Amino acid sequence: MRVLGIETSCDETAASIVALDHAQARPKILSNVVLSQIAEHAAFGGVVPEIAARAHVEALDGIIEAALEEAGVTLEQVDAVAATAGPGLVGGLIVGLMTAKAIASATQKPLLAINHLEGHALTARLSNGLEFPYLLLLVSGGHTQILRIGNVGDYQRWATTIDDALGEAFDKVAKMLALPYPGGPNVEKAAASGDPNRFAFPRPLKGSAQPDFSFSGLKTAVRQAASAIAPLSDQDVADICASFQAAVTDTLADRVKRALVRFRADYPDRKTPALVVAGGVAANHAIRTMLEQLCAAHGFSFVAPPHILCTDNAAMIAWAGIERLNAGMADPDAFDFVPRSRW
Ligand code: KG4
Ligand code: ZN
Repeated sequence: MRVLGIETSCDETAASIVALDHAQARPKILSNVVLSQIAEHAAFGGVVPEIAARAHVEALDGIIEAALEEAGVTLEQVDAVAATAGPGLVGGLIVGLMTAKAIASATQKPLLAINHLEGHALTARLSNGLEFPYLLLLVSGGHTQILRIGNVGDYQRWATTIDDALGEAFDKVAKMLALPYPGGPNVEKAAASGDPNRFAFPRPLKGSAQPDFSFSGLKTAVRQAASAIAPLSDQDVADICASFQAAVTDTLADRVKRALVRFRADYPDRKTPALVVAGGVAANHAIRTMLEQLCAAHGFSFVAPPHILCTDNAAMIAWAGIERLNAGMADPDAFDFVPRSRW
């Protein structure tokens, strides 16, 4: 089975062919083409929806062609088409889903309208062959969630952010400190030479029985600290970044620990359950190290799919399509599916 995946929900135009050979029973990524629009949005310090939608229109046909060519597959040899149908920026979703509808309709193949988060949720099965159930920490520019992944279509959200997403908090802190976009990697770089103890930033919701995340108070504390010492020296910036990163890591650890304990209680028979991390923020070394230590302390295995599969890509969308087809969950009404900015 070969599935064409299309992803256009944010600022990456992506297409991929994933194959599942039932004899081998291990999926194979035949191509995974991702065009990032970072350069187009950098001047604005964030993703501009109108620019993103136009860039998807211009790029998508070429990206799909490149994905087919790299996989050595023609459209006729594709067995199904899967596209992100939400959540995300609606302009991009329309471009991706309509293109998928057109291809599936012209080639008379099944169409799958995929939830972007389902793509992230199932990636660890594509990359690591992970068995259900497992715990997922999704930390990206748009999402901060802890999910119990029970089966295809069985997802239970245990925690979400009540304000900013974690990547968004990194990006906003970077902007306050005049660091370039995207902020996450630049905050991490600056933090490396900073003092994490110079500023005692708040640890939002730490110790609270409520499972959720909150980052907006922390962001405000960073803004106040930064404006109190204008003009900022390079060392000030480094110290703020290090202190911010320490606060974030600490908060995240508290929230994740709760979920590990709950998962253990729900699945007492599982010897070594897995915690999977996904999303762009998963690239952060301080956060990764903390998660590794936490997993080791609680007898969990720590699974981090390769970076290209952790950030937005179309291989995860193609794979979610394959999982749905295998589970007999193809949606015959997918051609009528209207993209959902919230889902
Ligand atoms: O998953 P992703 O590539 O895209 C979506 O949000 O859909 O995540 C991007 C986010 C950005 O907010 C970026 O600043 C953050 O991930 N990020 C990081 C790091 N690398 C990327 N945040 C913290 N530390 C990093 N090293
Ligand atoms: Zn994503």
